[in-house]
Order: sequence, then structure tokens, then C-alpha cells
Amino acid sequence: MLKIKENYFILETEHTSLVLKNDGGEVVYLYYGEKLNNYCGIELYEDGWKSSILSQCGTGNHREPALGVRFSDGSRKTNLKFHRARIVPFEKIEGLPCSYGAEKSLRLEFIDAPSKLKLYVTYTAYEESDVVSVATSLYNGGKKPVYLESVPSVQLEVRGRDFSFITFDGDWASERRRHEHKIGVGKLVNESIVGSSSHHHNPFTLIERAGEVYAVNLVYSGNHRTVVESNDAGKTRLIAGISPYAFDWELLPGASFFAPEAVVAYAATEEEASLCMRRFVSEHIVRGKWKKKPRPILVNNWEATYFDFNAEKILSLADVAAEIGAELFVLDDGWFGARDDDFRGLGDWEDHVEKTGGIGILADKIRAKGLKFGIWVEPEMVNEDSDLYRKHPEYAMKIPRREPTRMRNQIMLNLADPQVQGFVYRAIARVIEQCKAQYIKWDYNRTMTDCFDKSSHSGEYYHRYILGLYNVLEKLTARFPNVLFESCASGGGRFDLGMLCYMPQTWTSDNTDARDRVYIQAGTAAAYPQSTMGAHVSICPNHQTQNSNSLETRFDVACGGVLGYEYDLTKLTDAEKKEISEQISFYKAHRELLQFGTQYMLGNAFEGDMSGFITVSPDKSKAISVVCLPFRRVWYHTVCTKFQGLDEKAVYAVSYRDAVGNLVKLGEASGALLCKGQFRLDTVYDTVDTKRYSNPMYTRLYLFEKVSAKRRKTNE
Ligand code: DGJ
Repeated sequence: MLKIKENYFILETEHTSLVLKNDGGEVVYLYYGEKLNNYCGIELYEDGWKSSILSQCGTGNHREPALGVRFSDGSRKTNLKFHRARIVPFEKIEGLPCSYGAEKSLRLEFIDAPSKLKLYVTYTAYEESDVVSVATSLYNGGKKPVYLESVPSVQLEVRGRDFSFITFDGDWASERRRHEHKIGVGKLVNESIVGSSSHHHNPFTLIERAGEVYAVNLVYSGNHRTVVESNDAGKTRLIAGISPYAFDWELLPGASFFAPEAVVAYAATEEEASLCMRRFVSEHIVRGKWKKKPRPILVNNWEATYFDFNAEKILSLADVAAEIGAELFVLDDGWFGARDDDFRGLGDWEDHVEKTGGIGILADKIRAKGLKFGIWVEPEMVNEDSDLYRKHPEYAMKIPRREPTRMRNQIMLNLADPQVQGFVYRAIARVIEQCKAQYIKWDYNRTMTDCFDKSSHSGEYYHRYILGLYNVLEKLTARFPNVLFESCASGGGRFDLGMLCYMPQTWTSDNTDARDRVYIQAGTAAAYPQSTMGAHVSICPNHQTQNSNSLETRFDVACGGVLGYEYDLTKLTDAEKKEISEQISFYKAHRELLQFGTQYMLGNAFEGDMSGFITVSPDKSKAISVVCLPFRRVWYHTVCTKFQGLDEKAVYAVSYRDAVGNLVKLGEASGALLCKGQFRLDTVYDTVDTKRYSNPMYTRLYLFEKVSAKRRKTNE
């Protein structure tokens, strides 16, 4: 619900209210929290300290200003005053991906009289998700260019200085570990300046204290920054948007600049805030044919072969993939150009015929086995040893007269250039058509270093690159609406809402070690639903960590996302093949629940404690939980959990899945007891043969099925 009542602007979602006020030309937060329903007396609810929705330079503001504008005379003061508020039809953001599914928005307009700079802040309420989206844009109505040094996507200001700032940081193979920072009186920053949303600092953050949590994310895949600052007066400010690092945007007269959309949620707990965000992503970010469609179980050849394969090897892998019940075969890196290793070939999206025997033919042969066919591409990159680079060195992202920084022996293409965007679009469209690909894994294996484009101002480069990328993705996904796209960036280096607007799935991490995956997936689930997380069972010892875990454990953990196998299946023993077939049929039987159920996290995955998840069907008739015990402790028999999200009034039949896939009945228990009591987990330690696996992780998959009232009566 959106309402304008004189100087008050009210947005409501199912459980929250956001009230803004035009306070003498400055729009301020009056209230953001639990739903009020009745706003009588709101005019009495004043705040001695104005909590602006957007702080400006030169207004006596002593904290981080949100908006940074430099005028052509070098001055930086703006005085954007409230002009009017309107309820407008929902609009897509020009050039950028954004949320969808709402009909109306509240638009606030501001004008800086001397410069005629205009600011628009547009709020949309996604009621059932309890999320509010904020889209900010600037229009230069003056006669001279203005220079944008920082443009916020959102500014939040809350009362209190005892908040913690929660961030999700990491690196390659250790993405999105939750960190909690006490803000105190001071300033903290979560920022990526590597050109992508990054492995290092995900754009999703929260500020929280007991009973009060604000979650913020950006629909953006490039450099981003969130600053939180608390002051002595007891206010905490959060500003999120494009990072101002190397950002300086020339806004010509008559031109507009659109900041990436921000999404915010208020909830009483972190878990609830995550639930809101996950619901929102499923409903209003992920789109197209695959939005709610069961995602296929894939087999990917990367860890099975790396670059060392030929058609025969691929077909023998596909044979086993079909035999064990997989549905999609993904041919990873190495099928094109002269790509026999990672020194060459990127950019040459032509078939490596000696290896594939013809990509179209290979794809058809794989399809003839009853599998879908998917293919890997890394379209934003080029190797200097490639025909593309030899023919078009000017397509590469390079600074004249400087040696480029190479990462994984590759340099980037200059996607800020429309000509390069056109090349990438045509090349990938051709690949899809040539092999009738039903799935594309879009990889991105380095960060940006040599930003330069001769036709654009250097402070615009990072953002122009991302706009170029979005332009290509917009066109490709529109042309191939049936293709399932999975985003990847050396694992999870671009797990963000921008990419998810085009690609319903993201490869969560190159680290497939079950013990590490537990925290990587839990950190990812803080903001993104399980249907967006690629989760594969891979070989042991694990290629990234050398650790070994049982096949059952690896499967249990991969059930927390979209299941796949990345494994040399031709080397499986008959027993392993049988075990994997059973896993796949179990996953298929419960796929709807595993991929789209309401997922709650158990325990604490970040401290090496008991953890895991429970996913509950919308009518709460069925749930699956995987509990993970990372180490055997001396006091192992005291380890317990509560299973959240079940119907407390119902009775559930509880069973668990044993190593060979049998469901073992444990008994019946009330939902209330399962949710509130302490369920003993000590038998989970019996699941692993410790003679075979030293220092393993222990997991168990539980199934909860509601016992019908009729059956309960008969049993009584
Ligand atoms: C990095 C990805 O994360 C891997 O899964 C694999 O596709 C390789 N790139 C291929 O080069």
C-alpha cells in the first residue's frame, strides 16, 4: 500500500510500515518498523534529529553524505528541496536490471534551484515479501554538465548506536562467510572495487540489534559500497550504492543517471529478514520460464576431465550420467578454439573439432541419451593467444602503452564498447544455436584491472562496463527464453541480484568440500534462495581442500541447493553408482520441496557448530532437514537441534535417510515439540565409517511428513 497524506508518505507491506515526511523541503524517516495499521497522531511523532532519506554536501551534515555532486565551477554544495510526491505506475529502470511485479510506486521529486538538478527517489512496496525497493535517479535540467562523485541507491537512518553491521565476506573458494562488526560510534565500510560484486564482499548487508534488523541489498553486479556510521547523538546511518572508487560520472544537460535499485527489509530477527529477502528474490528478481520450474540435475565434466577430454570421454561420462538418472550434461571449459589449457583460446567461440568431433554432433549424441545439453562460455574474456585477439586487439580492455595485468593468463574484453558488446552477443548466440544449448554456464574468471575506453570518461568505466554486460544479457535472454542460464565467476564471485535478474542460478563456489560448503551455502542463503544456488557432489579427496567425506554427506549438503555432480562418473564402483542413482531419485521425488520450499537455517554454520537447514512445503505438510555436525566432540551426546517452520499443531512422521537411501522410521512427534524442544542428534555420529574417512563431517537427512488427522485417530 502506498499513500500520500499531505506531507506524509506511507508505504506498507504485509508486516511493516515505512513513514516518510516532508519536513520543510527535506524528506525524513519518521518510522520504519513493524506494521502500524493506524497512523493516527503521526504528526506528533517528531524526531529531534532529522533522519534524512538522502544527505547532501554543504548542508551542515557532519556524517558521510550520500550524494556527491561537483559542478563545473568546482563547487560541491547541493540543496535539493522537496518539490512533489506522486503515485506513479511502476517503471523499469533504464539500462539496469530491477525487480518486477508491482503496479505502482511512490515517487518523490527534489530540485536544486540554482543548478536545476533534479532528484527522483522512487519507492515500491512488495507486500507479501515485506521488502521495499528504492530507485534513485538524477536529471540535469541545467545548461552545464555536472559531475556525479557518488550517487546513493538508498540511505537509511535508524535510532540507536548499539547496532552491529553484518557483512558476508570471503575470497575465492570461501565466499560469503558471515561477519558481525559492532558499529559503536564510528564508521564501517563494506565495499567491492574489483569491478564485480566479488567473492570478497557481497553487497548484501544488515544492521541489527536485539529485536530490530534492517537488511539491504543492491540489484547490481559491479563495484558497490555500503557505509554505516553511528554518531554520538544516537543515530545510525546506512548508505548503499555504487562504490565512489574511481567513479566520476559526467551528467550532460538533459541527461539522466539511474542508480542501481536498492532493496530493504525490516524484521525482528535476522532469520526473518533473510526469509523476506529470499521470498523477494524468488518472486520479484528471478524471472522467465525457469522462475518456478524444477531445475534439472546436472553432470558437469570440469573436475572429471579439466581440459583433457575428447568426444569419446565426454560420451562415456554422458552414458553414466544418463544411467544414474541425471537430466542435463554440461560441457565445461575446453571445447572451443585451441583451448587445450588456460593459456589460449578465450574469445574464439568456434568449435575445437579435434576434441569434440563437432559440437552440434556431440550435443545431439548427448541428447540422444535422454539428457539435455548445456555448455560453458566465458564471453567477457580473451587470451592474447587467440584468433580474436590477433584480429581485434582493440576489443581488449587495455591501457595504451601499458602492460596489462593478466589473471589466469587472460585479459578482459572492453564491454564498455558497444562494438564489443555486439561481438559478444553474436558469438554467444551462435554457440547456443549451433549446439541448441538448453543451458549456459556463463563464467567470469578474473577481476578488472586495466580499465580504459578511449571514448568514455575514466570515472565512468566500471559502471559503463556493467551497463554493457547488462545490455548483452538483456538481449541474449530475450532471444533465448528457454535456455537456463547459470552465472559463475570463479565460483561465487558474482552472486548478486543483478545477475539473478538474467540467470536464475549461480554457481555458489568452486569449493565443493562439504564441510566448507555448509558455511558458504548458509552465508549465501542469508540473502538468496536455494533455487539460485548450484550445489554439486564432487570427488574425494576434494580437489580444493584434499579433505574426504562420505558420498552420503556430500549429497546431503548438496541437497541445500540445486543438485549436480562434478565427478568422473566412469570411475564409480557399482556400489557408488547405485548410491548416486538412489540419491538422484530421492532428490527428484522431493525436488519441489528442496528447491522451492521455505528454507530455514539450523544452528551456526560460521562457528563450526551444529548447522544445516530445514526446508518446509508451503502447506507445511512435508519438510526435509539436513543436519551437519562438522566434528565429533567429546560431549557429542549433548548435541541437539530445533526444527523450525513446521506446523506446531500437527503431528509428523519422522524418518531419516540411511547411507543406501532407505528411509528409516523414527516415530511420530508433534510439530510443537520438533520446533520448540531439543531433538537429540547423537546418532548422526554413527553415519560415517571413521576407518574409511578420518576427521569427517557427519550429516543426516530427515524427512517430516504430516500425519493426517484420520490416521492419528486410528493410531490412538
Ligand atoms: C571456474 C569455474 O568456477 C569452474 O567451475 C570451471 O568452470 C572453470 N572456471 C573452467 O575454467
